[in-house]
Amino acid sequence: MNCLFVIMGASGDLTKKKLIPAIYHLLKNKEIQNFAIIGISRQDFTTDSLIKFYKPYVKNSDPKIWDEIKKRIYYFKADFNEDKKFHELAVLMKKTESKHNLSGNRLFYLATLPEHFELIAHQLSKHKLAPQNKTWSRVVFEKPFGNDLKSAIKLNNCLKRVFKEDQIYRIDHYLGKELVQNISILRFTNTILEPLWNRKYIDHVQIAISEDIGVEQRGGFYDKYGALKDVIQNHSLQLLALTTMESPKHLTEKHIRDEKVKVLKSTKVKDVSLGQYNGYLKEPKVPKNSKTETFAALKLNVNNDRWKNVPFYLVTGKFMKEKLASIYVEFKKTPGLMFENVYDYPSNFLAIQVQPEEGFYVQINSKSPRTMDIIPINMDFCHSCKFGPNTPEAYETLLFDVLKGDQSAFIRSDEIEEAWKIIDKIKKPKIQTYKKRGIPNSAKKLIKKDGKQWHLTINYLSKSNGNG
Ligand code: BG6
Repeated sequence: MNCLFVIMGASGDLTKKKLIPAIYHLLKNKEIQNFAIIGISRQDFTTDSLIKFYKPYVKNSDPKIWDEIKKRIYYFKADFNEDKKFHELAVLMKKTESKHNLSGNRLFYLATLPEHFELIAHQLSKHKLAPQNKTWSRVVFEKPFGNDLKSAIKLNNCLKRVFKEDQIYRIDHYLGKELVQNISILRFTNTILEPLWNRKYIDHVQIAISEDIGVEQRGGFYDKYGALKDVIQNHSLQLLALTTMESPKHLTEKHIRDEKVKVLKSTKVKDVSLGQYNGYLKEPKVPKNSKTETFAALKLNVNNDRWKNVPFYLVTGKFMKEKLASIYVEFKKTPGLMFENVYDYPSNFLAIQVQPEEGFYVQINSKSPRTMDIIPINMDFCHSCKFGPNTPEAYETLLFDVLKGDQSAFIRSDEIEEAWKIIDKIKKPKIQTYKKRGIPNSAKKLIKKDGKQWHLTINYLSKSNGNG
């Protein structure tokens, strides 16, 4: 595999924290053999200072591999508006490809602010930088993809004019996480789950993506989006789609994405709570009168035969108690039998824990010794115990997919638009302030009304079961 990476937004957080470490690991794991990187931004870097800037983010790097990377990075300062710069870029790209014996495969990564996407796409096309003939050119777009339905359609239309759909990779890094990739296998290959995965046996589902930090240095960016657009529109709705979609005919990109679109079309928001953490207005670059939500909790229904009347709750927020991403599936209680009215016993549940403590956690009922008292016990699968701590990070997996030309973990234009339709229809309630490490009262009420409670704590997995 050989390829020229062209990263727009080379000085940004995403590039230093995620993309460069991902490329390092691709090289380490021999998933790429030959490559070069051109990093582009408007900042005053040189190639040397850029390399120094990246180095601390590749933790415990092997000096031999890092040396390989160092030899292949080039910095190019440019403003995306300047035509002249794209002429120069074309020359640099050719020169770099020939110097490193690359065959012409090109991966453009737009790690810039989304408002630059159209301009960059236009420049790439105008200067014929992304040709598709014997070699490939693929373009990765970071989220957020648009700001609402209208802007997403406009962006999709613009991209369709300049690229073919098989060149366009709309990324959602949650789809590269191991446990998210595991959802379909868990659902569709297990006889002890597959028949139960419907309204007859499932009481409700909670999809949580909570964070224990605030917006940190990203206040200026975050404030334009807020929790609904930053996380719910993409990560949470993707998890919902994978949890609820019908079994695709084949696990291929077209069939998976067709099924996700269908289920998003049937999804309706029923209730909403929005919050802003105490102190948000003092964060750098956040307007003092900002009404942006840093927390959102939603109740949704998926109106189809499988899911009619099963509530789905999505919750996300900054400065919540713990960093956690999980899909919590609570099953209905067994009907009657001799235990009803005699003992109160807990419902079974399955938690697909995406992070931290990646794994599955199942709670079922058992008896305690010498009595007929019912106690919940758990059975679990600890991913890192079984496979070791070095499973690939989401960005490594997804970059490798781009290199292979596999779009199944990327979002198709119609999926993005369906997700925006859901968000655009939300009638925003008044935002409540919440204390750091807490959640707004309106979110507590939202679920309590239905006689349920949030499950927002990590299920710690037993570390001994890994190899069993
Ligand atoms: C990003 C959001 O898409 O996901 C961030 O823009 C959020 O606000 C991040 O912090 C969470 O990702 P992860 O992988 O750390 O759960």
